[in-house]
Amino acid sequence: IGDSNKGSLITSGTKKRPDGRAFDELRPLKIEAGVLERADGSSYVEIGDNKVLAAVYGPRELHVRRLLKPNMAILRCRYNMAPFSVEDRKRPGPDRRSVEISKITAEALNPAVFLEKFPRSTIDISIEVLQAEGGTRCAGITAASVALADAGIPMRDMVAACAAGKADGQVVMDLSEWEDKEGEADLPIAMMPRTGDITLLQMDGHLTSDEFEKALDLAIKGCKIISEEQKNAIKNRYGD
Ligand code: CDP
Repeated sequence: IGDSNKGSLITSGTKKRPDGRAFDELRPLKIEAGVLERADGSSYVEIGDNKVLAAVYGPRELHVRRLLKPNMAILRCRYNMAPFSVEDRKRPGPDRRSVEISKITAEALNPAVFLEKFPRSTIDISIEVLQAEGGTRCAGITAASVALADAGIPMRDMVAACAAGKADGQVVMDLSEWEDKEGEADLPIAMMPRTGDITLLQMDGHLTSDEFEKALDLAIKGCKIISEEQKNAIKNRYGD
């Protein structure tokens, strides 16, 4: 256990994971801002074998009257998996899962954006999963935040997302696809590290309350590491 864990709830975790990671280790992470010429903002995220693109259009005037909010912008998200992103070809188009992930992504990002600065407008976010390896909703939220920042949209903080969970009896950070499928529980979260506000918390599977505390602690730790990389991506694009 590294020094960084002193004083935290995390005390277990000596078993190596199938991919050789320690219990509190992220997969290799790469974040790039401004990768698409024609979007207002964009980013590309790789975490492990996940490859995710996010593009932002807007803010721009919204002409759909029933959606329009007179005093603020609305945030619309579309999460999409490419047919070639998963082992069994994914049938193109939305399905229950992608509709759910689109909705929770918008909800995770909403509290971060100063929507009141853009009345009667829409900010549209497209998330394209090019390759999936477990944790694509988190990679998508992380990518979307960088794309929003790249578009120059004012935010309280960039939202970072990371899952923790339980696999092979051990509470671990950032589940791989195998750990997600074979494991006992998955706890994806999104947060604004600057304020500490958690904007998404989902849970699949079973954890004791002690394990839940440990997993939440690990997911928050993961978000903080990811947040630093998000800031580096923006710095690399625009300088300090
Ligand atoms: O991707 P995330 O963990 O946020 O969502 P999930 O529904 O828990 O899916 C876990 C993983 O299963 C994905 O990341 C993909 O690697 C895989 N998957 C798949 O192989 N085929 C699908 N149609 C959906 C997901």
